[in-house]
Parts: sequence; structure tokens; C-alpha cells
Amino acid sequence: MCGIVGYIGNLEKKKLIIGGLRELEYRGYDSAGISVLSQGQLHTFKAVGKLVNLEKKCETFASSGFGVAIGHTRWATHGKPTEANAHPHFADFSNVVHNGIIENHREIKECLEKKGHHFVSQTDTEVIVHLFEEKLKTFTDTFEAFKQTIAELRGAYAILLITQKEPEKIFYAKNASPLIIGKGEDGIFFASSDAPLIGLATDVSYLEDQSVGYMDLNGFESLDLVVKLNQDKGYAQKDGFRFFMEKEIYEQHTVLLESMMGRTNEGKVIFDFRDGQFCDEIEEITICACGTSYHAGMVGKYLLERYGKIKTNVVIASEFRYANPILKKNELFVAISQSGETLDTLEAVKYVKTFGNKTLAICNVDNSSIVRECDEVLLTRAGIEKGVASTKAFATQVMVLWLLSVFLGQRRGVLAPSEAETLIKVMVESAKKTEVSHKLHDRIKRLSKRYLHGHGFFFIGRDVFYPLALESALKLKEISYLHAEGYPSGEMKHGPIALADSELFTVALMPEHLLYEKIKSNVEELSARDATICALSAKEFDGADDMLYISPCSHYMEEFFSMMVALQLFALEVAVRVGSDVDMPRNLAKSVTVE
Ligand code: G6P
Repeated sequence: MCGIVGYIGNLEKKKLIIGGLRELEYRGYDSAGISVLSQGQLHTFKAVGKLVNLEKKCETFASSGFGVAIGHTRWATHGKPTEANAHPHFADFSNVVHNGIIENHREIKECLEKKGHHFVSQTDTEVIVHLFEEKLKTFTDTFEAFKQTIAELRGAYAILLITQKEPEKIFYAKNASPLIIGKGEDGIFFASSDAPLIGLATDVSYLEDQSVGYMDLNGFESLDLVVKLNQDKGYAQKDGFRFFMEKEIYEQHTVLLESMMGRTNEGKVIFDFRDGQFCDEIEEITICACGTSYHAGMVGKYLLERYGKIKTNVVIASEFRYANPILKKNELFVAISQSGETLDTLEAVKYVKTFGNKTLAICNVDNSSIVRECDEVLLTRAGIEKGVASTKAFATQVMVLWLLSVFLGQRRGVLAPSEAETLIKVMVESAKKTEVSHKLHDRIKRLSKRYLHGHGFFFIGRDVFYPLALESALKLKEISYLHAEGYPSGEMKHGPIALADSELFTVALMPEHLLYEKIKSNVEELSARDATICALSAKEFDGADDMLYISPCSHYMEEFFSMMVALQLFALEVAVRVGSDVDMPRNLAKSVTVE
């Protein structure tokens, strides 16, 4: 995930900004850059890859005396990780860094190009600094020009802008992406999270959404909501959570909206494929993935067939290549991978390319091997995921597949415009449903102590809740080392019901808006045989030993995302109680590059 730092003061700015960026390295990045404005001169340095590359680029540069500076680590979302796409972006006399996504950057760019602006990057960010300099032609007051610029932006942003017009100020804006301003003995500091501020700032203000302002050495006192900064670095990196996995679960409502950003417009899904005709003439889809990504693919099958009306197969990558698969000419091959490096999936893509089929990567890491190998990519934009057990990557994979299903439904003329519009609204609601309530988390913490023994877990569900059951069983296995299986609830009676007794824990996914009565009868069959039932639903179910209530929803996909969060937290809290290493469970790796 991108990171931002900024500084106003007399300390050596290059060292300070790169030091701040180093504190953000743990969030993952693929390029970095800094701009220093001191003694009227703007100096900008950028480099692809790690910070040492950036340090080499500016080895001979140092600033002295008063000045302002900004820095950025970039995690590519719009445009490849190249030096031109790295921040800060510049126009004639100003530089900008930005986290988030400017949804309407295309319109702004077109308009500015007509006015003679020349763009050098593929990013959405570059429009900000050009728009600002364009506004300065109309508004002589710099802050007014900045405010007018921000007023035209749609999307999520944390922005720092410096300009030779006002060399003692940093202009800032924040909406839906975090931005903090701090004050310490040596000046004013900016950052997108606490870690770079520790040891430098004592007091901080966590900016609210819609904040637009500027800061100079004397401006800090005018800020609202100033608090003391917690100086614990480990705590700061996890944003105050106990584990990265927990932080990532809590982040899902934000990253889900990011995965949608710029991809919907006026009730339609839009994708910026390099080839505008990429999805035309596709008659069938094969999705290929491993682990959690495979489960997302299974959810995708239901959605693609339901909304895109396109036949979809889902295959496990390690089972695909050696089975002499048959691919049709107009079959799209979709590789899903969080890391983009999983060897089984990568080799499957290479194999399919020998048949000449179109390939699409759904991936969280731009420029990864799978992304480079595929014809087109849809990035999931979850930001780096540190917990080995995938949570937010899975959530965004499902969201992107859902967007793809609506996109194909529209493109193929099989989904009514009104239905597409409704589904997009449901997507936003579903993202909101993943915001964790303390009440739910506390309830799960308490409940988890009753599920530490027994001879195993069955997670059961139907339709999209079946792959969610598989994924929930995998989560529990991965981090608590307890045996768990996911099963289609209608299939329990064809075998596994023989295991039912009071020591068999069944976690039943019971959505109100999808096949409720059917799954209810399946669960009743188990309850009648004395299995211990924990039911997840918005609706009370008499046959349950424990109820885990989700908040009322109006669509089954909202229920899907609500239950997903509850089940991730359930796995986490059981793992905490059994004392396993939640972020780095035994025998597992985040990225598996062997067959
Ligand atoms: C490993 C990880 C899993 C992950 C799978 C696929 O096994 O431990 O959590 O789901 O790889 O990884 P990918 O990066 O391709 O999604």
C-alpha cells in the first residue's frame, strides 16, 4: 500500500524523508520518490524498487536550512511500477504525492490536455498537480487554487503538495485515505500512518475526511483533535492491533471500496483493459488458482454464471496442467493469485498460452510474474497482506470477480441495466458490512472458548456460502491447527452425517436471502443427531446451540461479506486461545514458488 511522508523545518530533509519512508516499508511498495523544496529550488528524485535505489539516486544531494519536503512509496494500481509513474508527480513549479484513487482522472486529464498540459505518467495522481497549476491561472490565492483543485476530485485521497509559489507551506487534503499531521521539537511532520512520526512528533492530529488545508511552521495550533502520539513502533505498524491478520480483517471495508474505485460509473461497471475488445467473443471461462484464491474463484463461478450468464469452470492449479485439459477457442483463462508468484498457477498460465487462449490475471501485486504473463490484469488493490492466512486479499478477489460478472452481463446484453445498477449499490453496501463492530468481535471472543476441543469442525453452506464454508474451514485449519472441513450443506446427508455427535462442531452459514429453508432442513438433520451447532444468521434459529448474529441485510451478497468477517474473526480468536502464531502459522508460506 502506498505511503506518504512530509516535513517542514530545518533538519536535513532528504535523510528525514527517506527515514520516514523506511518506516513504511513493511506496507509493501514497488517504487519511491522524494521532493525537497529549499532555498527556492525544487529537487525531485525517484527510483523503482527498494529505497536503496532511491538513496543511490540522491547520494550527492543534501539540503540545508529551512525547507519543505514530501516523499512517497508507491504500490502500483494505475500504471506499471516505473520511474515515471513513481511519486512525487510534477508540473512546472509544484510537486505532489497522493495515496488513494482519483476516480475521475480521465475526464480531468482530457480537459487539461486540451489546455496544453503534457503528462508523462500513466497515473491518476499526475492530474492533481496539473489541475492545481491550471487553477492558479484563475485564482491568484494559492490556497484558493488548491481548494478548487480538490473540489474537482472524486475518489479517495491523501494528498501533499508543495509549490515554489509558497515555499514555506505544505498543502494537504484528505478523504477516505489516512493522513496525520504531527508536531515535534524539530518542526511539522506528515505521514499516512503513525510509524514514521514516532520519535519525531509528540502531538498529532488524525485528519478527518474532507479536510483541506495548508500547514507552515506556525499552523499546527489551529488543528482540531490533537492527541499525544503513542511511541511504540510495533504497535504502530499493526495500527494498534494484536496481529497483522486482525488489522487486515478490520481494513476490509476500506480496501473493498478501493477495489471498486474507478470501476463503476452511472450504474455500469467499466474496466480499463488495454484491449477494449478483450472480453468480446468469450463464450466460456476457466478460473485457475490455489488455496484461498481458488475459493474466491469458486464464488466467482456462481456470480459469473448468475449475472454474466457465462459457463465457468474452476480448477485447482496443481491439478490442471497434467490432466490434458481441453480448452475451447473462445475460452478465457482467469488466473487468480494474491501474490502473483504461485508457481502452480503461473505454470498453468504458461501452459494455456501455448493454446493461444486469452488470459486474465486477478492479482494483488502489479508486475508480478502472473501479471506479466497474462494478457490483461484486474488488480485487487488490497494493499500488502502480511498475515500468512489471507483475509482482505480474498475479500477483494471476490469483489473483483463480482464486478467482472456484472461487466460481462452488461457487455453480453444479458443483464438488465436496472439490475446492474442495483448490484453496484449492493456491492457498496456489502463493503460497508465488513466494518467490524466491537459487539460482534467481543461476542466471537467469548464464543471461541467453547470451540477448542471436539473431533472436528464442519463449516456448511450452499451456493456462494459453500466456497465461503471451504474458506472458513481453511482459515481455521491454517492458524489453529484444528481439523476442519467445508461442505455443501445438502451433501452432509450423503456421508459426513455419520460423524454427527455432540463433539462434532458444525458452523452453519444460514443466509436469510438465499435458500434459507433448504439449509435450515440440512442443519436440522444434524441438530437431530446431537451435533453441536453454531449458526450464523441474521435470523434466530431454534436448532442452534450458539447463535452468531450478523446484522440484517437486504441481499445475499451482503450476508456473504458479513459472514466472511465473522468467520475470519472466529478463526483468529480460536487460534489466539490455542496459542498458535496467528501471523506466521507453522509449515505455511505466504507465497509458494514450488510445485
Ligand atoms: C499459499 C498460501 C495461501 C494462498 C495460496 C495461493 O498456499 O499459504 O494462503 O491462498 O498460496 O496463493 P496466491 O498468492 O496465488 O493467492
